[in-house]
Amino acid sequence: MKTVKDYIRTIVDFPHEGIMFRDVTTLFSDPRGFRMCIDQILNPYAGTRIDKVAGLEARGFIIGGAIAHQLSVGFTPIRKKGKLPGATLSQAYQLEYGEAVMEIHDDAIQPGEKVLLVDDLLATGGTAQAGIQLIEKLGGEIVGCAFIVDLPELGGRAKLEAMGMDVHILCEFEGL
Ligand code: PRP
Ligand code: MG
Repeated sequence: MKTVKDYIRTIVDFPHEGIMFRDVTTLFSDPRGFRMCIDQILNPYAGTRIDKVAGLEARGFIIGGAIAHQLSVGFTPIRKKGKLPGATLSQAYQLEYGEAVMEIHDDAIQPGEKVLLVDDLLATGGTAQAGIQLIEKLGGEIVGCAFIVDLPELGGRAKLEAMGMDVHILCEFEGL
């Protein structure tokens, strides 16, 4: 039987020469693959209280929406700077070159809400770390951080675990 990893396509030299891009669109476009992915992300949280799902722009919205629907809870987008229309909190994070900023609506999560944070891929962990900081600033309690793909050479899992996070990832790719 095909695994989640088998549905993920690798594009060589995107977005730059020397980068192997792990493309989850081929996973999302397959009905068995997409359902398997959502089921496996949710698997360890059976019996865990989750009040809200937060997704990181952009591919975290695709899985986050499906997971929130499955759990019958709300969904909160964490977006790149300047995209959210209401009052926001901002958090800067490191990119390969320079810095970027993620934002969340300041009324998107209530203090004490149990939040599951999701994204497609964990690399350095900078994006997820910014998401965690934003959720925690609003008083949300993160029950887990879930991803489809880990790039273990970049150390993201260790970074999030050092912050006390419970990290759940479906597959790993070696090589950047
Ligand atoms: C990619 C990926 C994660 C992030 C992981 O998103 O989808 O969100 O990088 O990298 P990190 O762990 O080193 O922070 P990208 O920033 O390319 O933006 P996109 O999802 O909007 O395409
Ligand atoms: Mg992303």
